[in-house]
Amino acid sequence: MTAQRYAQVAGWGMCVPERVLTNHDLEKVVDTNDEWIVSRTGIRERHVVANERETTSTMATRAARAALMVADLAPNQIDLVIVATVTPDHSFPSTASLVQDALGAAKAGAFDLSAGCSGFIYGLVLASGYISGGYAEHVLVIGAETLSRIVDWTDRNTCVLFGDGAGAVVLSAADRPCGVVSSVLGSDGSGGELLIMPAGGSRCPTSHETVSNGDHFVKMNGSEVFRFATQIVPKATEQVVQKAGWQLGDISLLIPHQANSRIIASAAKRLAIPAERLFVNVDRYGNTSSASIPIALCEAIAAGRVKAGDKLVMVGFGAGLTWAAAAVEWGRPVPTKPQPWLRRTLASLRFAWAAFRSPGLRLARHGYDLTLGPEGREDWRGQLRKRVDAWRRKHQKPGA
Ligand code: ACO
Repeated sequence: MTAQRYAQVAGWGMCVPERVLTNHDLEKVVDTNDEWIVSRTGIRERHVVANERETTSTMATRAARAALMVADLAPNQIDLVIVATVTPDHSFPSTASLVQDALGAAKAGAFDLSAGCSGFIYGLVLASGYISGGYAEHVLVIGAETLSRIVDWTDRNTCVLFGDGAGAVVLSAADRPCGVVSSVLGSDGSGGELLIMPAGGSRCPTSHETVSNGDHFVKMNGSEVFRFATQIVPKATEQVVQKAGWQLGDISLLIPHQANSRIIASAAKRLAIPAERLFVNVDRYGNTSSASIPIALCEAIAAGRVKAGDKLVMVGFGAGLTWAAAAVEWGRPVPTKPQPWLRRTLASLRFAWAAFRSPGLRLARHGYDLTLGPEGREDWRGQLRKRVDAWRRKHQKPGA
Protein backbone atom coordinates (compact mmCIF):
# COMPACT_ATOMS: atom_id res chain seq x y z
CA MET A 1 0.00 0.00 0.00
CA THR A 2 1.38 3.42 -0.93
CA ALA A 3 1.64 6.02 1.84
CA GLN A 4 -0.84 8.91 1.85
CA ARG A 5 0.67 12.12 0.41
CA TYR A 6 -0.21 15.68 1.32
CA ALA A 7 0.59 19.05 -0.23
CA GLN A 8 1.87 21.85 1.96
CA VAL A 9 2.48 25.50 1.20
CA ALA A 10 6.27 25.68 1.04
CA GLY A 11 6.78 29.13 -0.49
CA TRP A 12 4.90 32.34 -1.15
CA GLY A 13 5.47 35.68 -2.82
CA MET A 14 3.66 38.70 -4.16
CA CYS A 15 4.22 41.56 -6.55
CA VAL A 16 2.28 44.76 -7.08
CA PRO A 17 3.19 47.57 -9.45
CA GLU A 18 4.94 50.56 -7.88
CA ARG A 19 2.40 53.06 -9.14
CA VAL A 20 -0.29 53.84 -6.56
CA LEU A 21 -3.61 55.38 -7.54
CA THR A 22 -5.45 56.93 -4.59
CA ASN A 23 -9.13 57.80 -4.39
CA HIS A 24 -8.10 61.44 -4.62
CA ASP A 25 -6.30 60.68 -7.91
CA LEU A 26 -9.54 59.12 -9.17
CA GLU A 27 -11.50 62.23 -8.26
CA LYS A 28 -9.61 63.88 -11.15
CA VAL A 29 -10.59 61.12 -13.59
CA VAL A 30 -14.30 60.43 -12.90
CA ASP A 31 -17.15 61.98 -10.95
CA THR A 32 -16.41 60.33 -7.61
CA ASN A 33 -15.00 61.17 -4.21
CA ASP A 34 -12.91 59.57 -1.49
CA GLU A 35 -15.80 59.54 0.99
CA TRP A 36 -18.09 57.57 -1.38
CA ILE A 37 -15.41 55.02 -2.29
CA VAL A 38 -14.27 54.43 1.30
CA SER A 39 -17.78 54.19 2.76
CA ARG A 40 -19.14 51.87 0.00
CA THR A 41 -16.08 49.70 -0.63
CA GLY A 42 -13.39 50.26 2.03
CA ILE A 43 -10.85 50.98 -0.74
CA ARG A 44 -8.42 53.89 -0.25
CA GLU A 45 -5.86 53.15 -2.94
CA ARG A 46 -4.86 50.52 -5.49
CA HIS A 47 -1.69 49.69 -7.45
CA VAL A 48 -1.82 49.89 -11.23
CA VAL A 49 0.71 49.14 -13.95
CA ALA A 50 2.64 52.16 -15.12
CA ASN A 51 3.78 51.15 -18.60
CA GLU A 52 3.39 48.52 -21.32
CA ARG A 53 6.34 46.50 -20.00
CA GLU A 54 4.32 45.57 -16.89
CA THR A 55 1.86 42.78 -17.65
CA THR A 56 0.13 39.90 -15.92
CA SER A 57 3.03 37.57 -16.77
CA THR A 58 5.76 39.93 -15.53
CA MET A 59 4.04 40.43 -12.16
CA ALA A 60 3.30 36.69 -11.94
CA THR A 61 6.95 35.90 -12.65
CA ARG A 62 8.17 38.23 -9.90
CA ALA A 63 5.72 36.77 -7.38
CA ALA A 64 6.75 33.25 -8.43
CA ARG A 65 10.46 34.03 -8.02
CA ALA A 66 9.80 35.26 -4.49
CA ALA A 67 7.84 32.07 -3.73
CA LEU A 68 10.64 29.87 -5.10
CA MET A 69 13.12 31.78 -2.95
CA VAL A 70 11.10 31.08 0.22
CA ALA A 71 10.63 27.43 -0.76
CA ASP A 72 14.37 27.21 -1.52
CA LEU A 73 13.67 25.51 -4.84
CA ALA A 74 15.29 25.85 -8.25
CA PRO A 75 12.92 26.59 -11.14
CA ASN A 76 13.65 23.23 -12.76
CA GLN A 77 12.27 21.43 -9.68
CA ILE A 78 8.78 22.74 -10.48
CA ASP A 79 6.51 20.18 -12.17
CA LEU A 80 3.55 22.38 -13.02
CA VAL A 81 2.75 26.10 -13.27
CA ILE A 82 -0.89 27.15 -12.91
CA VAL A 83 -1.84 30.80 -13.47
CA ALA A 84 -5.34 31.86 -12.47
CA THR A 85 -6.26 35.02 -14.34
CA VAL A 86 -9.00 36.81 -16.25
CA THR A 87 -6.46 39.20 -17.76
CA PRO A 88 -3.92 36.93 -19.50
CA ASP A 89 -1.18 38.54 -21.62
CA HIS A 90 -2.78 36.85 -24.66
CA SER A 91 -5.70 34.46 -25.34
CA PHE A 92 -2.88 32.10 -26.26
CA PRO A 93 -0.14 31.22 -25.53
CA SER A 94 -1.08 30.87 -21.89
CA THR A 95 0.33 33.30 -19.35
CA ALA A 96 1.48 30.21 -17.42
CA SER A 97 3.71 29.23 -20.35
CA LEU A 98 5.20 32.74 -20.44
CA VAL A 99 5.89 32.49 -16.70
CA GLN A 100 7.34 28.98 -17.07
CA ASP A 101 9.71 30.32 -19.72
CA ALA A 102 10.67 33.47 -17.78
CA LEU A 103 11.42 31.39 -14.68
CA GLY A 104 13.43 28.80 -16.59
CA ALA A 105 11.12 26.09 -15.20
CA ALA A 106 12.24 23.78 -18.01
CA LYS A 107 10.59 20.63 -16.64
CA ALA A 108 7.19 22.13 -15.85
CA GLY A 109 3.85 21.83 -17.59
CA ALA A 110 1.87 25.06 -17.64
CA PHE A 111 -1.71 26.21 -18.09
CA ASP A 112 -4.05 29.09 -17.30
CA LEU A 113 -7.23 28.77 -15.32
CA SER A 114 -10.25 31.06 -15.67
CA ALA A 115 -12.61 31.13 -12.69
CA GLY A 116 -12.84 34.86 -11.97
CA CYS A 117 -11.80 35.92 -8.51
CA SER A 118 -12.18 32.32 -7.29
CA GLY A 119 -9.39 31.23 -9.66
CA PHE A 120 -6.54 31.09 -7.16
CA ILE A 121 -8.44 28.70 -4.86
CA TYR A 122 -9.47 26.55 -7.82
CA GLY A 123 -5.75 26.34 -8.70
CA LEU A 124 -4.73 25.57 -5.13
CA VAL A 125 -7.24 22.73 -4.87
CA LEU A 126 -6.23 21.29 -8.27
CA ALA A 127 -2.53 21.48 -7.39
CA SER A 128 -3.13 19.84 -4.04
CA GLY A 129 -4.98 16.92 -5.66
CA TYR A 130 -2.29 16.59 -8.33
CA ILE A 131 0.43 16.31 -5.69
CA SER A 132 -1.59 14.01 -3.39
CA GLY A 133 -2.24 11.75 -6.38
CA GLY A 134 1.50 11.36 -6.80
CA TYR A 135 1.73 13.21 -10.14
CA ALA A 136 4.01 16.01 -8.95
CA GLU A 137 6.35 17.07 -6.15
CA HIS A 138 6.18 20.85 -6.50
CA VAL A 139 3.51 22.99 -8.15
CA LEU A 140 3.46 26.78 -8.54
CA VAL A 141 -0.01 28.28 -8.18
CA ILE A 142 -0.27 31.94 -9.14
CA GLY A 143 -3.12 34.44 -9.16
CA ALA A 144 -2.26 37.45 -11.33
CA GLU A 145 -4.23 40.29 -12.89
CA THR A 146 -3.82 43.51 -14.83
CA LEU A 147 -7.42 44.67 -14.40
CA SER A 148 -6.50 48.31 -15.04
CA ARG A 149 -6.23 47.34 -18.73
CA ILE A 150 -9.83 46.09 -18.94
CA VAL A 151 -11.68 48.65 -16.85
CA ASP A 152 -13.42 51.57 -18.46
CA TRP A 153 -11.73 54.60 -16.90
CA THR A 154 -14.84 56.67 -17.66
CA ASP A 155 -17.18 54.32 -15.73
CA ARG A 156 -17.20 55.31 -12.04
CA ASN A 157 -19.27 52.21 -11.17
CA THR A 158 -16.32 49.92 -11.90
CA CYS A 159 -13.03 51.82 -12.29
CA VAL A 160 -12.75 52.67 -8.58
CA LEU A 161 -12.97 49.02 -7.55
CA PHE A 162 -10.06 47.25 -9.19
CA GLY A 163 -6.27 47.04 -8.90
CA ASP A 164 -3.35 45.09 -10.38
CA GLY A 165 -1.00 42.57 -8.80
CA ALA A 166 0.08 38.96 -8.41
CA GLY A 167 0.48 36.43 -5.62
CA ALA A 168 2.05 32.98 -5.80
CA VAL A 169 2.50 29.90 -3.66
CA VAL A 170 4.60 26.79 -4.12
CA LEU A 171 2.80 23.63 -3.02
CA SER A 172 5.15 20.77 -2.19
CA ALA A 173 4.57 17.10 -1.35
CA ALA A 174 4.56 16.26 2.36
CA ASP A 175 4.17 12.99 4.22
CA ARG A 176 2.29 14.27 7.26
CA PRO A 177 -1.26 15.64 7.28
CA CYS A 178 -1.27 19.33 6.30
CA GLY A 179 -2.21 21.60 3.42
CA VAL A 180 -5.64 21.60 1.81
CA VAL A 181 -7.83 19.60 4.21
CA SER A 182 -11.13 20.24 2.41
CA SER A 183 -12.48 22.33 -0.43
CA VAL A 184 -15.68 23.65 -1.95
CA LEU A 185 -15.81 24.65 -5.62
CA GLY A 186 -19.01 26.01 -7.12
CA SER A 187 -20.43 27.67 -10.19
CA ASP A 188 -23.74 29.19 -11.26
CA GLY A 189 -23.35 30.08 -14.92
CA SER A 190 -26.87 31.52 -15.04
CA GLY A 191 -25.30 34.63 -13.44
CA GLY A 192 -22.61 34.93 -16.10
CA GLU A 193 -23.83 38.24 -17.49
CA LEU A 194 -23.67 39.91 -14.05
CA LEU A 195 -19.90 40.22 -14.36
CA ILE A 196 -18.61 39.95 -17.90
CA MET A 197 -16.26 41.23 -20.58
CA PRO A 198 -18.71 40.83 -23.47
CA ALA A 199 -16.39 40.88 -26.50
CA GLY A 200 -13.09 39.45 -27.65
CA GLY A 201 -14.09 35.78 -27.47
CA SER A 202 -15.58 33.44 -30.09
CA ARG A 203 -19.15 34.56 -29.37
CA CYS A 204 -18.41 38.19 -30.06
CA PRO A 205 -15.07 38.55 -31.85
CA THR A 206 -13.21 41.85 -31.82
CA SER A 207 -14.45 44.30 -34.42
CA HIS A 208 -14.56 48.07 -34.90
CA GLU A 209 -18.08 47.91 -33.50
CA THR A 210 -17.13 46.02 -30.30
CA VAL A 211 -14.30 48.45 -29.69
CA SER A 212 -16.43 51.55 -30.23
CA ASN A 213 -19.20 50.09 -28.02
CA GLY A 214 -16.68 49.56 -25.19
CA ASP A 215 -17.46 45.83 -25.16
CA HIS A 216 -13.91 44.94 -24.16
CA PHE A 217 -14.34 46.49 -20.72
CA VAL A 218 -15.61 44.93 -17.48
CA LYS A 219 -19.40 45.18 -17.21
CA MET A 220 -20.84 44.53 -13.78
CA ASN A 221 -24.19 44.55 -12.08
CA GLY A 222 -22.73 45.66 -8.73
CA SER A 223 -25.78 45.23 -6.53
CA GLU A 224 -26.53 41.69 -7.82
CA VAL A 225 -22.90 40.64 -7.37
CA PHE A 226 -22.98 42.18 -3.90
CA ARG A 227 -26.10 40.18 -2.98
CA PHE A 228 -24.56 36.96 -4.33
CA ALA A 229 -21.27 37.57 -2.47
CA THR A 230 -22.83 38.28 0.92
CA GLN A 231 -24.70 34.97 0.71
CA ILE A 232 -22.05 32.72 -0.79
CA VAL A 233 -19.00 33.73 1.31
CA PRO A 234 -20.49 32.61 4.67
CA LYS A 235 -22.19 29.58 3.07
CA ALA A 236 -19.01 28.30 1.38
CA THR A 237 -17.02 28.95 4.57
CA GLU A 238 -19.48 26.94 6.67
CA GLN A 239 -19.43 24.10 4.14
CA VAL A 240 -15.64 23.89 3.90
CA VAL A 241 -15.26 23.98 7.69
CA GLN A 242 -17.81 21.20 8.08
CA LYS A 243 -16.10 19.08 5.40
CA ALA A 244 -12.77 19.53 7.22
CA GLY A 245 -14.34 18.29 10.45
CA TRP A 246 -13.64 21.65 12.09
CA GLN A 247 -15.85 24.12 13.95
CA LEU A 248 -16.06 27.79 12.93
CA GLY A 249 -14.31 28.58 16.22
CA ASP A 250 -11.30 26.50 15.08
CA ILE A 251 -10.46 28.93 12.26
CA SER A 252 -7.20 30.71 13.11
CA LEU A 253 -7.47 33.11 10.18
CA LEU A 254 -10.16 33.73 7.56
CA ILE A 255 -8.76 35.14 4.33
CA PRO A 256 -11.66 36.20 2.11
CA HIS A 257 -11.46 37.57 -1.43
CA GLN A 258 -10.77 41.29 -1.05
CA ALA A 259 -13.52 42.90 -3.14
CA ASN A 260 -15.37 45.11 -0.71
CA SER A 261 -14.98 45.62 3.06
CA ARG A 262 -18.79 45.58 3.47
CA ILE A 263 -19.01 42.09 1.93
CA ILE A 264 -16.19 40.91 4.22
CA ALA A 265 -17.75 42.50 7.33
CA SER A 266 -21.16 41.01 6.57
CA ALA A 267 -19.67 37.51 6.17
CA ALA A 268 -17.54 37.85 9.31
CA LYS A 269 -20.58 38.94 11.32
CA ARG A 270 -22.66 35.99 10.14
CA LEU A 271 -19.83 33.58 10.89
CA ALA A 272 -19.01 35.30 14.21
CA ILE A 273 -15.35 35.70 13.21
CA PRO A 274 -13.74 38.52 15.22
CA ALA A 275 -11.36 41.04 13.65
CA GLU A 276 -8.25 39.32 15.03
CA ARG A 277 -9.16 36.15 13.06
CA LEU A 278 -9.97 37.99 9.84
CA PHE A 279 -7.55 39.38 7.25
CA VAL A 280 -8.44 42.54 5.35
CA ASN A 281 -6.20 44.59 3.04
CA VAL A 282 -8.71 45.76 0.43
CA ASP A 283 -8.06 49.35 1.56
CA ARG A 284 -4.56 49.29 -0.01
CA TYR A 285 -5.04 47.13 -3.12
CA GLY A 286 -8.69 47.27 -4.16
CA ASN A 287 -10.06 44.17 -5.87
CA THR A 288 -7.19 42.37 -7.62
CA SER A 289 -9.46 39.43 -8.60
CA SER A 290 -7.56 36.12 -8.56
CA ALA A 291 -4.48 37.83 -7.06
CA SER A 292 -6.34 39.10 -4.00
CA ILE A 293 -6.24 35.96 -1.83
CA PRO A 294 -2.56 35.08 -2.41
CA ILE A 295 -1.57 38.73 -1.86
CA ALA A 296 -3.58 38.74 1.39
CA LEU A 297 -1.96 35.44 2.40
CA CYS A 298 1.54 36.87 1.83
CA GLU A 299 0.71 39.96 3.88
CA ALA A 300 -0.82 37.87 6.67
CA ILE A 301 2.36 35.79 6.83
CA ALA A 302 4.55 38.93 6.81
CA ALA A 303 2.44 40.35 9.66
CA GLY A 304 3.12 37.22 11.74
CA ARG A 305 -0.50 36.09 11.61
CA VAL A 306 0.22 32.57 10.28
CA LYS A 307 2.17 29.85 12.08
CA ALA A 308 2.62 26.08 11.86
CA GLY A 309 -0.51 24.20 12.89
CA ASP A 310 -2.85 27.13 12.14
CA LYS A 311 -6.19 26.42 10.51
CA LEU A 312 -6.80 28.85 7.64
CA VAL A 313 -9.86 29.27 5.50
CA MET A 314 -9.56 31.06 2.16
CA VAL A 315 -12.80 31.88 0.39
CA GLY A 316 -13.48 33.60 -2.91
CA PHE A 317 -16.28 34.47 -5.33
CA GLY A 318 -16.39 36.07 -8.73
CA ALA A 319 -17.16 36.01 -12.42
CA GLY A 320 -18.87 32.88 -13.67
CA LEU A 321 -20.50 33.19 -11.24
CA THR A 322 -18.09 31.05 -9.27
CA TRP A 323 -17.15 30.50 -5.66
CA ALA A 324 -14.43 28.50 -3.92
CA ALA A 325 -13.21 27.83 -0.41
CA ALA A 326 -10.25 25.89 0.95
CA ALA A 327 -9.54 24.83 4.52
CA VAL A 328 -5.78 24.71 4.91
CA GLU A 329 -3.75 23.41 7.80
CA TRP A 330 -0.45 25.27 7.81
CA GLY A 331 2.31 22.66 7.76
CA ARG A 332 5.62 24.49 7.94
CA PRO A 333 7.05 26.95 10.42
CA VAL A 334 7.24 30.37 8.79
CA PRO A 335 10.93 31.36 8.40
CA THR A 336 11.79 34.28 10.64
CA LYS A 337 14.85 35.34 8.62
CA PRO A 338 15.42 35.67 4.86
CA GLN A 339 17.50 32.98 3.12
CA PRO A 340 21.28 33.35 3.68
CA TRP A 341 22.89 35.67 1.09
CA LEU A 342 24.67 32.81 -0.70
CA ARG A 343 21.38 31.02 -1.39
CA ARG A 344 19.79 34.29 -2.46
CA THR A 345 22.70 35.00 -4.80
CA LEU A 346 22.49 31.50 -6.28
CA ALA A 347 18.75 31.90 -6.82
CA SER A 348 19.28 35.29 -8.48
CA LEU A 349 21.89 33.74 -10.78
CA ARG A 350 19.42 31.02 -11.76
CA PHE A 351 16.79 33.63 -12.54
CA ALA A 352 19.33 35.64 -14.55
CA TRP A 353 20.24 32.49 -16.49
CA ALA A 354 16.55 31.93 -17.27
CA ALA A 355 16.35 35.47 -18.60
CA PHE A 356 19.15 34.59 -21.10
CA ARG A 357 17.90 31.08 -21.80
CA SER A 358 14.66 32.15 -23.43
CA PRO A 359 16.11 34.56 -26.04
CA GLY A 360 18.91 32.00 -26.52
CA LEU A 361 16.37 29.30 -27.44
CA ARG A 362 14.64 31.70 -29.83
CA LEU A 363 17.91 32.66 -31.43
CA ALA A 364 18.95 29.02 -31.78
CA ARG A 365 15.64 28.21 -33.51
CA HIS A 366 16.06 31.14 -35.86
CA GLY A 367 19.79 30.55 -36.43
CA TYR A 368 19.19 26.87 -37.22
CA ASP A 369 16.84 27.68 -40.08
CA LEU A 370 19.09 30.49 -41.25
CA THR A 371 22.26 28.35 -41.32
CA LEU A 372 20.91 25.06 -42.59
CA GLY A 373 18.10 26.43 -44.74
CA PRO A 374 14.50 25.18 -44.98
CA GLU A 375 13.57 21.49 -44.97
CA GLY A 376 13.51 19.50 -48.23
CA ARG A 377 16.43 21.06 -50.15
CA GLU A 378 18.62 18.65 -52.11
CA ASP A 379 21.97 20.53 -51.89
CA TRP A 380 24.64 19.88 -49.22
CA ARG A 381 22.84 22.13 -46.72
CA GLY A 382 19.63 20.12 -47.17
CA GLN A 383 21.53 16.85 -46.63
CA LEU A 384 23.22 18.28 -43.52
CA ARG A 385 19.87 19.48 -42.16
CA LYS A 386 18.35 16.00 -42.64
CA ARG A 387 21.14 14.47 -40.55
CA VAL A 388 21.00 17.12 -37.83
CA ASP A 389 17.16 16.83 -37.69
CA ALA A 390 17.46 13.04 -37.27
CA TRP A 391 20.04 13.48 -34.49
CA ARG A 392 17.84 16.02 -32.72
CA ARG A 393 14.77 13.77 -32.92
CA LYS A 394 16.76 11.00 -31.28
CA HIS A 395 18.59 12.96 -28.59
CA GLN A 396 17.00 16.27 -27.83
CA LYS A 397 14.38 16.69 -25.11
CA PRO A 398 11.49 19.06 -25.94
CA GLY A 399 12.19 22.61 -24.72
CA ALA A 400 15.95 21.95 -24.40
N1 ACO B 1 -18.57 57.47 -6.92
C1 ACO B 1 -19.70 58.14 -6.59
N2 ACO B 1 -20.93 57.62 -6.81
C2 ACO B 1 -21.00 56.40 -7.38
C3 ACO B 1 -19.85 55.69 -7.75
C4 ACO B 1 -18.60 56.26 -7.51
N3 ACO B 1 -17.44 55.65 -7.82
N4 ACO B 1 -20.23 54.50 -8.28
C5 ACO B 1 -21.57 54.48 -8.26
N5 ACO B 1 -22.04 55.63 -7.73
C6 ACO B 1 -23.41 56.03 -7.53
C7 ACO B 1 -24.35 55.28 -8.45
O1 ACO B 1 -24.42 55.93 -9.70
C8 ACO B 1 -25.65 55.41 -7.68
O2 ACO B 1 -26.20 56.66 -7.93
P1 ACO B 1 -27.79 56.83 -8.21
O3 ACO B 1 -28.44 56.32 -6.93
O4 ACO B 1 -27.93 58.28 -8.41
O5 ACO B 1 -28.05 55.98 -9.38
C9 ACO B 1 -25.21 55.37 -6.22
O6 ACO B 1 -23.80 55.67 -6.22
C10 ACO B 1 -25.45 54.07 -5.51
O7 ACO B 1 -25.01 53.02 -6.32
P2 ACO B 1 -25.16 51.52 -5.85
O8 ACO B 1 -24.81 50.61 -6.98
O9 ACO B 1 -26.48 51.31 -5.17
O10 ACO B 1 -24.04 51.46 -4.71
P3 ACO B 1 -23.73 50.26 -3.75
O11 ACO B 1 -23.85 50.69 -2.37
O12 ACO B 1 -24.43 48.99 -4.17
O13 ACO B 1 -22.18 50.00 -4.05
C11 ACO B 1 -20.67 48.64 -5.32
C12 ACO B 1 -21.74 49.72 -5.36
C13 ACO B 1 -19.51 49.16 -4.50
C14 ACO B 1 -20.20 48.36 -6.75
C15 ACO B 1 -21.25 47.38 -4.67
O14 ACO B 1 -22.46 47.04 -5.30
C16 ACO B 1 -20.33 46.21 -4.74
O15 ACO B 1 -19.27 46.21 -4.15
N6 ACO B 1 -20.70 45.12 -5.46
C17 ACO B 1 -19.89 43.94 -5.53
C18 ACO B 1 -18.84 44.18 -6.55
C19 ACO B 1 -17.80 43.09 -6.55
O16 ACO B 1 -17.45 42.58 -5.54
N7 ACO B 1 -17.32 42.81 -7.74
C20 ACO B 1 -16.24 41.96 -7.95
C21 ACO B 1 -16.63 40.55 -8.01
S1 ACO B 1 -15.26 39.58 -8.11
C22 ACO B 1 -14.59 39.44 -9.70
O17 ACO B 1 -14.67 38.39 -10.30
C23 ACO B 1 -13.90 40.59 -10.36
